[in-house]
Amino acid sequence: MRKIVILTGAGVSAESGLGTFRDKGGLWTRYDLSEVATPEGFARNPALVHDFYNARRANALDASPNAAHAALARLQAEHGGVTLVTQNIDDLHERAGSRDVIHMHGQILRALCAVCGARWDAPRVMGPRDACPSCGAAATRPDIVWFGEYPYHMERIAEALAGCDLFVAIGTSGEVYPAAGFVEEAAGLGAETLEINLKPSAPGRFDRVIAGPATQAVPRWVAEVLGG
Ligand code: APR
Repeated sequence: MRKIVILTGAGVSAESGLGTFRDKGGLWTRYDLSEVATPEGFARNPALVHDFYNARRANALDASPNAAHAALARLQAEHGGVTLVTQNIDDLHERAGSRDVIHMHGQILRALCAVCGARWDAPRVMGPRDACPSCGAAATRPDIVWFGEYPYHMERIAEALAGCDLFVAIGTSGEVYPAAGFVEEAAGLGAETLEINLKPSAPGRFDRVIAGPATQAVPRWVAEVLGG
């Protein structure tokens, strides 16, 4: 059975109504990421950062998984040998039925204590005066990996890339490392590479490219892998 590593980005949740970052009107065209997505920004103004993520948490909770999330959950269930890595902080893969999703940039529905490192399910609205349930410090933050911080589960991802036959990047611009380097890493270790994107990211970077909206292109590709 072919081992497949899938990396998803904001494009897989775009048709669920969650914004992307770098498309027209994307989040980073409306917010200064250094203010809301860096440890320095959080230290400077925790209330602003909590407001930003409270809005994204509400959007994520109000959104529903789409046909791309469902198709990937079906692939995991029926094909086996699939490792699903996501850069997304929403839980739409899980709500579509995916298991063991590797959230390398953290999760909007989880909270982290900046003092003692405790993690718990985030309340719908978080604020700078919330006390950590473990140590009591008013230092709670969303359990999100910010720019300048090290992504989660990198050893596990490296192992999966080393052992895979096919690497598939879905709905990601391939601009943010280390995720952007996975395609070269997998190809260098002998894997075939496929990009599924509304606007393919870079000609020649992948062995194969399927252009189209994720809700159409992903179910079609999954049907091809599962043999119809
Ligand atoms: N179907 C498929 N792909 C789509 C769709 C769609 N409906 N809509 C947009 N896309 C593609 C775009 O063409 C683009 O390549 O999704 C990608 C979105 O790119 P980004 O906005 O850069 O999002 P992403 O690649 O996930 O960003 C990576 O950057 O800001 C950080 O931590 C943040 O996880 C994020 C990381």
